[in-house]
Amino acid sequence: MEVRIYPFGPLQANMYMVVVGKEALIIDPCVSFDSIDLEGIDVKGIFCTHAHYDHIIEADNLSRKTKSVLMAYSEEIPVMKDSIRNGSAMRFLPYSVKSHVIPLTDGAEFGPDDFLMSGSEPFLIRVIHTPGHTMGSISLFFEFSEIKKGGKILFTGDTIFAGSIGRTDLGGDMDEMKQSIAKIAAMDEDVIIYPGHGESTTVGEETLHSPFFTAAFYNDII
Ligand SMILES: [Fe+2]
Repeated sequence: MEVRIYPFGPLQANMYMVVVGKEALIIDPCVSFDSIDLEGIDVKGIFCTHAHYDHIIEADNLSRKTKSVLMAYSEEIPVMKDSIRNGSAMRFLPYSVKSHVIPLTDGAEFGPDDFLMSGSEPFLIRVIHTPGHTMGSISLFFEFSEIKKGGKILFTGDTIFAGSIGRTDLGGDMDEMKQSIAKIAAMDEDVIIYPGHGESTTVGEETLHSPFFTAAFYNDII
């Protein structure tokens, strides 16, 4: 398993590609098909952590060119399809997702078979609803059971950044955000966090250094 990182545009949103053998899953389709090296790699599915335009701007193109399904939390799909709510209309050319998007639910789990992947490396993906930045934001937990170190990975979108958290004034809610942080803070220390912008971190690092990973910050409403 390998995680490839593709930062996009002036806002440097991270698109990720989880490569397992000769197959891959994409998280946050914001980089053009021509800018990524897919030599010998078959993309099997595309997850969207949330609907903001800087994370979905290539959703239709990548879905069509890789023949992959698009997936997002149910509540987020109407936002992806609305250029005002996804923020693109205010920034540059209005963009709305035209392709069908498969709705995800909190706690949904997937394995290689669900994406018709060969299963050369077993893994489990769990959808965790982490509202706050947007109401339909999700984090995607990948667990590769046969890898002892680096086998637990969380893609947090704009919920968590290294040392910081996402804005809650773009369709989100701070109380929801605090509950989502509490959920992530309760995860194992060695879970690697790949955020929607910036460098990767771990749950342990955030617990030690982030002012937002303190019970004083998130416990007041729990
Ligand atoms: Fe965002």
